[in-house]
Amino acid sequence: MGHVIAIDGPAGAGKSTIARGLAEKLGYIYIDSGAMYRAVAMWALSMDIAVDDPVKMEQLALAAEIEMLPGRRILLNGEDVSDRIRTAEIASAASRVAALGPVRRALVAKQREIGEKNNVVMEGRDIGTVVFPAARVKIFLDADPVERVRRRAAEQPDIAPGELATQIADRDRRDRQRAESPLVQAPDAVYLDSTALTAEQVEEEILKLVRARISNGKGAL
Ligand code: CDP
Repeated sequence: MGHVIAIDGPAGAGKSTIARGLAEKLGYIYIDSGAMYRAVAMWALSMDIAVDDPVKMEQLALAAEIEMLPGRRILLNGEDVSDRIRTAEIASAASRVAALGPVRRALVAKQREIGEKNNVVMEGRDIGTVVFPAARVKIFLDADPVERVRRRAAEQPDIAPGELATQIADRDRRDRQRAESPLVQAPDAVYLDSTALTAEQVEEEILKLVRARISNGKGAL
């Protein structure tokens, strides 16, 4: 198995920015597991399949050919869906799809396959608890809810901030309260609150842990 750095936490905590930066510095592969849930949700919506139908959704998740490429690009069945999965509608549908156990099992298998062969920085909700419980470095990245909405609003200026706040709160509640792999800090994860920190400061904190826990054999990480 490769080295795994697991970064979990709620929406808008800064996981993607941090995970991407770390992967680049370390020469690891960056994997956005949420993009997989978004891709399966998008496929269902495009075919008018109810995102909470466990049988049909399992079939879709198993049939989905998902490729994660550098530059945060994702292919679904050979088609580049990187931009199409970033809407608020898809985010909300993804969190419904993600509550289904059979869908999670199908996507977790794909995530493990990538971590088996590569050194990865993987971000999501259950990476340190379920996908890679033996990850060398586990971070639970959090931030104040107001700050999380502010960050997301800067990325999605087309949605009214009040509406965005409601959507994020709904999604967080679903993610934390679901029976299957809820969003929860792993007992051996390090809690980091990014509210008052720059991305560089968060990265530096995590790099300290990486240096302490992962040796590349040259002591040069
Ligand atoms: O980027 P953002 O934090 O807004 O969301 P995302 O990481 O793209 O994830 C979208 C949704 O997928 C989340 O709200 C979760 O419901 C779900 N998800 C999950 O359940 N488990 C993961 N490992 C990753 C995402």
